[in-house]
Amino acid sequence: MYEMTLEDLLESLNREIHACTKCPLSRTRLNAVPGEGPVNARVVLVGEAPGAKEDETGRPFVGKSGELLASLLKDVGLDRDEVFITSILKSRPPRNRAPRASEINACLPYLYRQLNLIDPTMIVLLGGVAIKSLAGNMKLSECHGELHETNNHTFFMTYHPAAAMRFPRILDVMKSDFELLRRELEMRGG
Ligand code: URA
Repeated sequence: MYEMTLEDLLESLNREIHACTKCPLSRTRLNAVPGEGPVNARVVLVGEAPGAKEDETGRPFVGKSGELLASLLKDVGLDRDEVFITSILKSRPPRNRAPRASEINACLPYLYRQLNLIDPTMIVLLGGVAIKSLAGNMKLSECHGELHETNNHTFFMTYHPAAAMRFPRILDVMKSDFELLRRELEMRGG
């Protein structure tokens, strides 16, 4: 009997996301952006929502934020290709406005299904929207660089690369957060 592999299941989830009409963003997006990376990734990174370039290409973090993210990862010995990169919302909000609670609620089940298939060692939450949606209401200035453990998942909280592009001080903080992340992954054997 043909059994579906984890890759098949992730691919089928991607197709569901591309066809999704659960919120009005499905009417304004060019492409849904499910995320990308290997199904056996040990690290998953979660941003906020696709921007213009992601909407055009259907790929996550391919704009300026993505370049910075790739360089932060490289500095701590992680290759973009070995991690899974996605966002809370899979569709771009018009003019990049903040995600609405109703959109987050409609989209979050897709992320949880992705996380259950991938079952990573660490889920890196990039910025306030990802932190609030998955770990709870915390102040970024107080919780960055810290872990938040739930029954099923281990979250590591830090800033969004878009904030680091605007504020050099935040870039420095993100660099030291990623160094903490590197050590934490090393201790967890991957
Ligand atoms: N910012 C995000 O949060 N996600 C993307 O995919 C791109 C930019």
